[in-house]
Amino acid sequence: MSNQNTKMMQRDLEVIWHPCTQMKDHETLPLVPVKSGKGVYLYDFEGNRYIDAVSSWWVNLFGHANEHINNKIKLQLDTLEHVLLAGFTHEPAIELAHKLVGITPKDLSKVFYVDNGSSAVEAALKMSYHYHLNKGKCKPIFLSLTNSYHGETIGALSVGDVGLYKETYEPLLIANMQVPVPKNQSIEAAQEALIFLEEVLKDKAHEIAAFILEPLIQGAGGMHMYHPVYLVGARALSQKYDVHLIADEIMTGFGRTGKMFACEHAEISPDFMTLSKGLTGGYLPLSVVMTTHDVYNAFYCDYNEHKAFLHSHSYTGNPLACAAALASLEIFEQNDILGENEKKSTYIKEQLEIFSSLDNVKEIRQQGMVAAIELKGYAAQERVGLKIYEYALTQGVLLRPLGHVIYFMPPYIISYDEIDKMIKVAYEGVVKVLK
Ligand SMILES: Cc1ncc(COP(=O)(O)O)c(C=O)c1O
Repeated sequence: MSNQNTKMMQRDLEVIWHPCTQMKDHETLPLVPVKSGKGVYLYDFEGNRYIDAVSSWWVNLFGHANEHINNKIKLQLDTLEHVLLAGFTHEPAIELAHKLVGITPKDLSKVFYVDNGSSAVEAALKMSYHYHLNKGKCKPIFLSLTNSYHGETIGALSVGDVGLYKETYEPLLIANMQVPVPKNQSIEAAQEALIFLEEVLKDKAHEIAAFILEPLIQGAGGMHMYHPVYLVGARALSQKYDVHLIADEIMTGFGRTGKMFACEHAEISPDFMTLSKGLTGGYLPLSVVMTTHDVYNAFYCDYNEHKAFLHSHSYTGNPLACAAALASLEIFEQNDILGENEKKSTYIKEQLEIFSSLDNVKEIRQQGMVAAIELKGYAAQERVGLKIYEYALTQGVLLRPLGHVIYFMPPYIISYDEIDKMIKVAYEGVVKVLK
């Protein structure tokens, strides 16, 4: 590693404890100090560039240092950087909330601002539990899918099901149950999983506040995908058994799956929708819980009835983040982003065909601008994902496989040449590194 990069790395490791990392790995694995970003590229301190094929943890939509978003944030910066949202309000929060109500599924009419994905999940869980309580029912259990991921705070971790993150904290978790996720993208798998869902609801619905799921794609669970028919069925069953449906669109929202929101593939309107990541185009931490009039009204009464939702975070609805979100939505309004994405995802699908002849490939799957190659025949300790990651970096691509699943989730502005490069490097990684 070059001198400047090494210096930065050493200075970093003296003081920073990185997220989702065994820090000892960095005795041998170099950190990549990023100096700047432009478009799909990240630049290190020696001028090497890397295609950000994972959109910096799935947040970036329109590239780094996007001119339009930059300008809107700068304007906002000189107007109002932050103000509390209790008792006070501001224009970007108001305008953004109206826009979100306009583009999300029809029954979602109220916006509760939070400031990151996990906190949005926490707020949605609390709101659901509290709603039932306000209606005179105590329902302390949350239902979710096997292999799901909803964040790392205690409530969010409780409704997740990735053992690596969850197991250690088992004694601390809130009451949760899991039903099987459809095992693949077929309609049959969706129907089969719905049978299990109804069995659990029949038996336990009186204790279950909400059923939370990642619509169509389980991100951290290895980009596992399933058919929209499951969402149609889950919505119908949740209504039948008086259990809320929480659609966690933190990863799938804002065009990732081919439609603005994954719920649109099934034409369903959930009781709650959580949004973050792409909400600000990948610029600033912000999240929302969208919900219905019915939920909102269950909390609306005289103060002394003690039914208010007294949940808050200091940076809730930050004006700079709201300005970034508004700028990102303007890009959607002024361009045919979903149309262009459709062409790009068709192209990606064609290019991924080269993986199908490899013996170590188990499955290729795709939903919109998310594509995944699942490898087979490797033990977890072999850390094949890490090997691919290291190889791809030497070739100027940031891939960050999830175990033995290599995936592509690039910013939407990626060019066809850059798609070629991203896929070529992953292919070489699979062929060369794993032989
Ligand atoms: C579906 C889903 N929900 C929640 C989260 C948590 O969001 P955050 O990392 O902002 O806390 C994530 C993060 O990857 C996610 O993919």
